Amino acid sequence: MITLVAGARPNFVKIAPIIRELQKRGVPFRWIHTGQHLGNNMDPWHELEMPEPDLLSNVSGGSHARQTAGVMQLVEIDLQQHRPDWLVVVGDVNSTLGAALAAVKLGVKIAHVEAGYRSYDWTMPEEANRCLVDRMSDLLLCPDSHAEFLVYDEGRTRPVLVGNVMMDSLRWALARLEDRANNIKVVSDVDIAYSGKPYAVLTVHRPANVDTGTDWDRVYGMVERATSLPIVWPIHPRVSKDWRMPANVQRVDPLGYLNMVALLRDSVLVITDSGGVYEEALYLGKEIVSLRDPNHFERGHLTSVPEIWKSDAAPRIVDALLH
Ligand code: UD1
Repeated sequence: MITLVAGARPNFVKIAPIIRELQKRGVPFRWIHTGQHLGNNMDPWHELEMPEPDLLSNVSGGSHARQTAGVMQLVEIDLQQHRPDWLVVVGDVNSTLGAALAAVKLGVKIAHVEAGYRSYDWTMPEEANRCLVDRMSDLLLCPDSHAEFLVYDEGRTRPVLVGNVMMDSLRWALARLEDRANNIKVVSDVDIAYSGKPYAVLTVHRPANVDTGTDWDRVYGMVERATSLPIVWPIHPRVSKDWRMPANVQRVDPLGYLNMVALLRDSVLVITDSGGVYEEALYLGKEIVSLRDPNHFERGHLTSVPEIWKSDAAPRIVDALLH
């Protein structure tokens, strides 16, 4: 039996293809939704056609310690009750760390999907999360050979190169969007994209960019210089509504996953501080302006799509778990 954990928005995109593969092979599993992100298009598991979560909580908001501790308590009880062969955690969010901490204390084996990403910037909560989770893991599932190299001596077993499961979801979504009904939903949400003119997409949510007015002024300048095209900006809930933006920026509420993929697919430029959106834009062949310091950007080494991303990672992940 395999237990998977998802909490923050990108986690769902990463575990959906793994769950689909487990279902296909008839492998028993359960999945826990920690509720770090809830509602408002922030937890798109329905849209990703995932089954109902076996356990759903609400650890949203509060301090990092409170959030992480909430996840630990929740996951500990579930692991004690079900004693899975593996706990599968993905990415670098607080839910990933909390779940891994609960498992390591109970002697439940941990598989980390997206092992080996490093920014070496310890002011980022994600860097602490990913380094600690890799150190605790029994199976390090790496998205590319650079990550595999970096993490070689860190975990308790050797890393396995599996590719990027986010690209499995991206291909899945692009195929879904071929269905005209989904496209209609997209254009009704976003005026600029509807007009058929070239546009850019902006996403920004990193604490180092959005938490103070000084940081925001820097972001403002970068966005202003990036393009004079219309820019669609789906706002992340942690970003203050008071922050100013250049006049060519149109603010929209957080988009669902399929809408976001369609918005990226049809754009000409992507301006982002998100590692995941950077990878999606790279895969879609978009021009990219990164709002992160390139020296501290864990995907900064990527200028082209690694060959292994072009085929599905989920079958390789499940092979490694069943091996
Ligand atoms: C988290 C992850 C980050 C990831 C991002 C994706 C950590 C440390 N960070 O950052 O790596 O890139 O998710 O979105 O885990 N909020 C809501 N509703 C929601 C979600 C968030 O209102 O559904 C608000 C709350 O005020 C919350 C704040 O946003 O306190 C920040 O949310 P939090 O989960 O702490 O971290 P994110 O910034 O979303």
